Amino acid sequence: MKTIRVHNHGGPEVLTYEDVPMPEPKTGEARVKIEASGLNFIDIYHRTGLYPLKTPFTLGMEGAGIVDAVGDAVTEVKKDERVAYAMVPGSYAEFAIVPAAKLVPVPGNIDAKTAAAIMLQGMTAHYLTHSTYQLKRGDTTLVHAAAGGAGLLLVQLAKMRGARVIGTVSTETKAELARQAGADELILYTQSDFLAEVKKITGGQGVHVVYDSVGATTFDKSLDCLKPRGYLVLFGQSSGPVPPLDPGKLSAKGSLFLTRPTLAHYTLDRAELLQRAGDLFGWIQSGALKPRIERVFPLKDVADAQRQLEARKTTGKVLLVP
Ligand SMILES: NC(=O)c1ccc[n+]([C@@H]2O[C@H](COP(=O)([O-])OP(=O)(O)OC[C@H]3O[C@@H](n4cnc5c(N)ncnc54)[C@H](OP(=O)(O)O)[C@@H]3O)[C@@H](O)[C@H]2O)c1
Repeated sequence: MKTIRVHNHGGPEVLTYEDVPMPEPKTGEARVKIEASGLNFIDIYHRTGLYPLKTPFTLGMEGAGIVDAVGDAVTEVKKDERVAYAMVPGSYAEFAIVPAAKLVPVPGNIDAKTAAAIMLQGMTAHYLTHSTYQLKRGDTTLVHAAAGGAGLLLVQLAKMRGARVIGTVSTETKAELARQAGADELILYTQSDFLAEVKKITGGQGVHVVYDSVGATTFDKSLDCLKPRGYLVLFGQSSGPVPPLDPGKLSAKGSLFLTRPTLAHYTLDRAELLQRAGDLFGWIQSGALKPRIERVFPLKDVADAQRQLEARKTTGKVLLVP
């Protein structure tokens, strides 16, 4: 079967399209014939080695497809069932071996591309708005990179929770997409000072919570955008990692809360995984949530897809199909 493998960490040129033997599921595992895999920023961190995996490895942390074989003692899914999953390495491939407990059955009227588009970034938007900080009516939130994969979903879920949403984006086109997703105010943070704009929009008050996936270039000013006792939810670093922080800063700037969450700790058991994925599928079925699939690349063209993501040229979700 065809896969995208990494033998040495590095730039997009290290991605190799190669044949490996068909893998067999062991006890508790299923083999999924991949119909679509999701592109995520974490794949770039795995490729570069910022989050190191032991080489060689097959890239990709999200997929949807059909169960074509199961190992012993699998009760969660059946052969020929459509499933989706996230946070298991190896989805940039024609087939993937996945622990059955990580697989979520996909409702019949949701296609594989849509399912692959929401497992990682959608469940992230879910836990960020429902668990890390429980947004409520009357809250104001700042969402950085509001037209990105996680961003467009986060904006929609924040609006569903009743919050007022201020988004940052780098271009007018991205601003329009974030506006369509429900953002109330947009700031072009590459052209104006987002801290000054947030203060203006909130009448000097600041926001209850900042969802910051950009990291290095936004972190310091994100802290300054908060009201006293506000929450800085740092959930990524698309512009680079944030340097170490003196905890005293949090007290000086208003007894702030800082957390650095990750999806794995918000899908701790199968019940939590099924609940978050089930909510997302339900909202898609009711029309309350509209994932935006921007581009679908053939698996073999993954290097082009990753270059676009790294160069801030994508919006919403980018998928790969084998
Ligand atoms: N902790 C978790 O559970 C979790 C889960 C999912 C994602 N994440 C993190 O969230 C971040 C976004 O992930 P994603 O997959 O949804 O990607 P994405 O937001 O679709 O793409 C990254 C966006 O970040 C913005 N950006 C700002 N400065 C950048 C720079 N120097 N280089 C590249 N992009 C820059 C760009 O938007 P503008 O052009 O509008 O600035 C770009 O489109 C990543 O750091 C990812 O690791 C974390």
